[in-house]
Amino acid sequence: MSSLDTPSRPRSAAAGGLGLPPCWYLDPAVYEAERELIDASPRFVGRSQMAPRDGDYVALEGANSGSLIVRHQGEVRLVSNVCRHRQAIMLHGRGNAKRIVCPIHNWAYGLDGRQCAAPHFPENPCLNLPAVPLNEWRGLLFAGLGDPAADLAALDDWPELNADGYVLDRIDYEEHELNWKSFMEVYLEDYHVSAVHPGFRTFVSPEDLRSPKRSAHGERFYAEMVGARWPLGSPGSPQFAEYQRLLLEVTGGMEPEYGAIWLSYFPSTLVEWYPFFNIITCYTPLSAERTALSSQYYVRRDVRESRPDLVEACHAVLDEVTAEDHEASVRLHAGRRALWRQGERRQGPYQDPMEQGLRHFHDFLRVACPAFDY
Ligand code: FES
Ligand SMILES: [Fe+2]
Repeated sequence: MSSLDTPSRPRSAAAGGLGLPPCWYLDPAVYEAERELIDASPRFVGRSQMAPRDGDYVALEGANSGSLIVRHQGEVRLVSNVCRHRQAIMLHGRGNAKRIVCPIHNWAYGLDGRQCAAPHFPENPCLNLPAVPLNEWRGLLFAGLGDPAADLAALDDWPELNADGYVLDRIDYEEHELNWKSFMEVYLEDYHVSAVHPGFRTFVSPEDLRSPKRSAHGERFYAEMVGARWPLGSPGSPQFAEYQRLLLEVTGGMEPEYGAIWLSYFPSTLVEWYPFFNIITCYTPLSAERTALSSQYYVRRDVRESRPDLVEACHAVLDEVTAEDHEASVRLHAGRRALWRQGERRQGPYQDPMEQGLRHFHDFLRVACPAFDY
């Protein structure tokens, strides 16, 4: 057994070189510290395109349930969706309204949250709905503390990260029995792609997986862009065969600007771009071994309206890649759990350059949670 398998003493971020030990994925004390870190960080809630017109609203679910995204007088805000009378959820889904009216006893609120009616009360109780402004970066809306525009300023010269002209296509809410970091980590290293993704590895350029076309990192993010393998070769799965066929049809055989862009905004937001597609996923840890996911899918408007077949094919390949990543994460988590139960603390090295995003993420966590700096 080499010295890398069982380091005799803890490794600091400065020493670097080794991944996080199993306890970082299973120890409830680490979970508590990371949960505090996530609660004190910008929280993605949606894109400004979710509510493009005045009066548009979207009722959020999952980790943001009980809140509405509302556009009022040109501004997008996060407004409570819980009635101040007896705490009913008032609106569901998406729509356009002049006022927020509770269906139980008809208390009514303006779109800025101010109460405007309480039937059969002698006076307006003025119990307003909490409403907070949102921070915006490239159309992404964040609630809570922090300054995403400052955190991501180093990406100002990446015009590809815009999603102007894109519209909301689908929102998914899921929960899984995995540590929240597992989900971020599969997007922070390209090392697994050739072994784990038989379809996806035939779509993206193998050279770019080894050394991306473009990459950038800061204290709180890691971003990389990889090209599509061009010309597109033999597809590695039936889903990719259909996707590649339709993509060539829609682009008229032109090489797409990129095959994929992954932006990991630490700690727990992932933004992905594929040709005509933009997906934002937010991970919320519920315990060391349970995570809630909320994913929003945006598609370029003209493609969504004219080529639903490409949209469906793109969802199919994304579902394929996600399922393969999930299977890999389950294996990784099972191995870490086995070691954790045995009291073992093993750590492996980072491949350079394909695991450098992962290394940045781990360094960020080690600095943010120094009590567990192994
Ligand atoms: S619960 Fe909303 S008006 Fe009573
Ligand atoms: Fe993957």
